Amino acid sequence: MQTPFKPMKAQFPPTLPAGACDTRRAFLRNSALLAAFFIVPGAFAEALTLTPRQTEGPFYPDKLPLDTDNDLLVINDAATPALGEVTWLHGRVLDGRGDPIRNALVEIWQCDANGVYLHSGDDRQDRKDQNFQSFGRFLTGSTGEYQFRTIKPVSYPGRTPHIHLKVKRAGKELLVTQCYIAGEPRNEKDSIYRSVKDEKARASITVPFVPLPGSAADELHAQFDVVLGLTPGA
Ligand SMILES: [Fe+2]
Repeated sequence: MQTPFKPMKAQFPPTLPAGACDTRRAFLRNSALLAAFFIVPGAFAEALTLTPRQTEGPFYPDKLPLDTDNDLLVINDAATPALGEVTWLHGRVLDGRGDPIRNALVEIWQCDANGVYLHSGDDRQDRKDQNFQSFGRFLTGSTGEYQFRTIKPVSYPGRTPHIHLKVKRAGKELLVTQCYIAGEPRNEKDSIYRSVKDEKARASITVPFVPLPGSAADELHAQFDVVLGLTPGA
């Protein structure tokens, strides 16, 4: 059985500020595009490949941004969006049987279009895109779905492009992993990517970043389902 993908509001904060700017309107409009075009799988008959753990790395923000919602392109109600290729990262948080996990707090963080992280330990802060939120959160509902508007990840010295993702529930950390771009040639030279030896596990964190149908602004989307080794309520 397949269930239509439904867009969800940002969880942090739950409502948009008055006088929302054009980029905010685009955010809402293209949330609807996702709803119209994308289908996510329903329950699976066979056990799914568990999403492999990856190192958290040194750049989980040591000080969170002023805005931690699921739109990383715009900080609060700023008029200027971040630099980069606009990408919708979306998917579901599932257990190994394909059942959705609700109340999972999904966090993502990544470097900006200049390859700079929001972290005091990244010594390239003078090149930081001040309009990129760098970090976002989304709390899943009953379908386990999440979505972020962010940028297509770029490489920085020593690493192939990736987005860091962490899942928590009830304050407990359940998974830390990274999401990679399918077809990216630098993946095969990246030691952290290659540390996942199992072919299926590696494939599960390597997803296509493809054009968002109907987007007038050349936006991309990437579906990244996250499978945890637990059962709901566990
Ligand atoms: Fe990283």
